[in-house]
Parts: sequence; C-alpha cells; structure tokens
Amino acid sequence: MPSSAPVQGRGGLHMKRTLASFSLEGKVGVVTGGARGLGLVMGQGIVISGGNLAIVDMNKEEAERQAAELVEVFRKENPGASKVPKVTAHYADVSNADSVQECIDDVIKEHGKIDHLVTSAGFTENYNAIDYPIDRIRKLWAVNVDGTYLFAITVAKHLMERKAPGSMVFIGSMSGSIVNVPQPQAPYNSAKAAVRHLAASLAVEWAHAGIRVNCISPGYMLTALTEKILDEKPDLKRHWTSLIPQGKMGQPADLMGPVTFLLSDASQYVTGADVRVDGGYTLT
Ligand SMILES: NC(=O)c1ccc[n+]([C@@H]2O[C@H](COP(=O)([O-])OP(=O)(O)OC[C@H]3O[C@@H](n4cnc5c(N)ncnc54)[C@H](O)[C@@H]3O)[C@@H](O)[C@H]2O)c1
Repeated sequence: MPSSAPVQGRGGLHMKRTLASFSLEGKVGVVTGGARGLGLVMGQGIVISGGNLAIVDMNKEEAERQAAELVEVFRKENPGASKVPKVTAHYADVSNADSVQECIDDVIKEHGKIDHLVTSAGFTENYNAIDYPIDRIRKLWAVNVDGTYLFAITVAKHLMERKAPGSMVFIGSMSGSIVNVPQPQAPYNSAKAAVRHLAASLAVEWAHAGIRVNCISPGYMLTALTEKILDEKPDLKRHWTSLIPQGKMGQPADLMGPVTFLLSDASQYVTGADVRVDGGYTLT
C-alpha cells in the first residue's frame, strides 16, 4: 500500500467500503451529558461519522474542553481535511424546562438546526428502598426521566416546525428490564424502564412526522467512573462479570456503532426499539 494511503484507524477517511446510509454527513446532533463518560464517546461517534455536534452538559467547562479535543482529534485523523466538523458546548440542567429551552435556542443559533438527539445525562445511586430520601428520588427521576422528556419534546417541536425528519436515541439501561444485584437501586431501575417505554410511546406519537425514537440499554460499561469504583471493589467486578455471557464489561466505544446506526438513515424503518448493548446479560 502506498505510504500516502489513508490510515485505516477508528476515524477519518478510510478505504473500507461501507453503506453510505450509515453516514451522518450534514446532520447536527445534540448529546446531553456529553461532556463525560458514555455521552462523550457517543458524541465522538457522531463526529467520526461525519456529523456536527452540540455537547450539552451541566459541566460546561468540561464540555468546552472536550469539544476542542474532539476537533483536534479529527484534524489528526484527517490531515489536510477541507471540511472540519463544528463541535460546540452548551450548558443545561436537563431537569429544568427553562434551561432546556434556552439550551436548544442556543444550539439552533450556533448550528442553524438540529437533526438528532441523544439523551445520556443521567445518574444512579444506591439506597435500600425504605431508606431512600424522597428528595433524592425526585431528583433522580427529574434528571433521568424529565430530562429525557424535556429534551425530546423541545427537539421534536423544532423538527415539526421545520417539517424535517429526525432521529432520537434515549440512553436507558439494562436496569430498565432486569433488577441488578447486589446493589439496591429501585428508583433508578424504574426510571430506566420509564425511559425505554417513553421512547416506544413517542415513536408511535411522532411516526407521522418522520421522527424516529429508539432506546439503547447499555449493560455494565467500563467508564472512568465505574473503573475507579470497581478497582476498589474487585469482588464486585468479578461478580458482575460472572453474570455476563460475553465474560467482560463493555467499553464505551461499544456504543458508537449502535448509536450511529440508530441516528442514521441505515435504520430508517427502526423506531420504538430497545437495543440492548450488554454482552448478553439480560438473556440469562
Ligand atoms: N456507565 C454504565 O455502566 C451505564 C450503564 C447503563 C446505563 N448508563 C446510563 O448512561 C448514561 C451516561 O452514564 P455515564 O456512565 O456516562 O455517566 P457519567 O456520570 O460519566 O456522565 C454523565 C454526564 O451527565 C451530566 N449530567 C448529570 N446530570 C445532569 C443534568 N441535570 N443536566 C445536564 N447534565 C447532567 C454529568 O455532568 C456528566 O457529564 C446515564 O443515563 C446512565 O444512567 C450507564
């Protein structure tokens, strides 16, 4: 192969043939919770697949840092590229309706439009159900469920005004279908079940407008955060891993393909689906 041949790395121009419908070229994607963890890696997947990206997070400073980093990585993987993706950072507290509207207005001002949405802002915590402070439960539901709902309806209104099709991916969890052990997290599990069924319900309600809504339910993924916790609890890591048919936890990059597929035209006839990315955990 001549030395000037494009590098066949994870991103950039490459020489492997693939369906053109997987490309996100010309699209604008919003990722909530995009400054860190799974959201950040899915945002990276959008950029690698040709899309422009708006990173939304409560931590705007980190979102700004990561936006600059994504563009830098793109430049390295695509030396001499004439077109560089636009990656912007925006503040929102996803649980607050005014904050969500301001954020969407800001994204539209910067990018001119929105085509895709990925809702990854969310968190979990462990309390026995009878000890769980109600204020904390309300906060957990507000971020995981209201946050998903508020972003979805605000982006849907924009798409309907433009009479444009769109695709949304809600990040649920396998916890929306199974009950994790041994950690007690009943409100989180029910929040993620709500996210999954919200995707199905909105998929039906908005099908007439060409808006597709799907859910990705990850299993145990090794992010910087979970890695740190599990390094301190090797027994828990062994226990979890023993329950996963593939015998290992997932890498955040394992979500790049599924999210790109669901956002892209390659999944045109897929709506209301729950795609489990869990190494087979929920099958046993
Ligand atoms: N990591 C896993 O193993 C795993 C498994 C299944 C599902 N999930 C789900 O995936 C999503 C991302 O998880 P992660 O591990 O990447 O988490 P993370 O904590 O690494 O990242 C979450 C991001 O969301 C942001 N955020 C939190 N609350 C917010 C709010 N109110 N408004 C705006 N931004 C907010 C945080 O600042 C952070 O950047 C969550 O919904 C989580 O429930 C994670």
